[in-house]
Amino acid sequence: MVILGIETSCDETAAAVVSDDRRIRADVVLSQLDEHRPYGGVVPEIAARCHLAHVDRLVAQAMAEAGLAFADLDAVAATGGPGLIGGVMVGVTTGKAIALAAGKPFLAINHLEGHALTARLTHGLDFPYLLLLASGGHCQLLATLGVGDYRRLGTTVDDAAGEAFDKVAKMLGLGYPGGPLVEKAAAAGDGARFSLPRPMKGRPGCDFSFSGLKNAVRLLVEDLPKPIAAADAADVAAAFQAAVAESVGDRCRHAAMEFRRNWPQGRTLVVAGGVAANTALRAELERVATDCGMDFLAPPLALCTDNAAMIAWAGIERFRLGLVDGLDFAPRPRWPLDPSARKVGGAGVKA
Ligand code: KG4
Ligand code: ZN
Repeated sequence: MVILGIETSCDETAAAVVSDDRRIRADVVLSQLDEHRPYGGVVPEIAARCHLAHVDRLVAQAMAEAGLAFADLDAVAATGGPGLIGGVMVGVTTGKAIALAAGKPFLAINHLEGHALTARLTHGLDFPYLLLLASGGHCQLLATLGVGDYRRLGTTVDDAAGEAFDKVAKMLGLGYPGGPLVEKAAAAGDGARFSLPRPMKGRPGCDFSFSGLKNAVRLLVEDLPKPIAAADAADVAAAFQAAVAESVGDRCRHAAMEFRRNWPQGRTLVVAGGVAANTALRAELERVATDCGMDFLAPPLALCTDNAAMIAWAGIERFRLGLVDGLDFAPRPRWPLDPSARKVGGAGVKA
């Protein structure tokens, strides 16, 4: 079985071809970082236009790399949400058009399910497992129990983790995207010079919060002499990164204990999302996993960040179960993986 996947929900246009033997036959990603950099964040209208300009070419490239024609596919999968709606519409429309023209089934994939199932593509991991998804748009802990079967143990009540890294980088004048730049600056800094809050640490449950920490960084930065010296920026970056690692680590520890209580046969903590690249955070998560009697699994970074291989793979998992969608599927800006999860946070919280 072989499926084409299309991903356009944020600032990466991506197409991939994956088969049910867990082989990635093609995987192409075009990042829009340069288009959004002048604005210090993703501009939805620009993102949608970029997806439209490039998606056909990327699909053609993926098919050529896989050495296949549309007729050889078993189905076409595209991210159906959650995400920036203009971009999702581009991917869904493209996927439907190919499916219709080639006479193949269409699958609308929840982007979060793509992230959640990646460890099964890369490592053949069995259900159930615990997933931390920490990206620019999401920060959630999910008990991953089966295809289409997720329990959200915690989510952010305000910003996503990556968003906090990006905003702190902006305050320090480090550039965009902030995560890697904050990490680089932090390596030269003294994390003990400034004391910052550890949001949610010690509280019951598994929810995250980053806006208070971000505000504390803002107040610190206001008091620094301007222009900000590299040494000062490094110390703030180190203090911020340590606070995030400790706070996220604490939330994951709570989640791991809850997960082990409810699903004792599950033994793995998996990470996904761009923030999973952070070395300090990874070290903390490995500690948490070890303390809780769990293994720690991080798929290769290119499959942790947004890509279409995860969409094609989720398509395979769903198609195997006969879960196809109609061509009347409407793109969804919000689409929680766990419909029973309570609503938290304000307008910025996506799922
Ligand atoms: O998963 P991703 O590539 O895209 C989505 O948001 O969907 O995640 C991007 C986010 C950005 O906010 C970026 O600043 C953050 O991941 N990030 C990092 C690191 N590398 C990327 N955050 C912390 N440390 C890093 N090394
Ligand atoms: Zn993502």
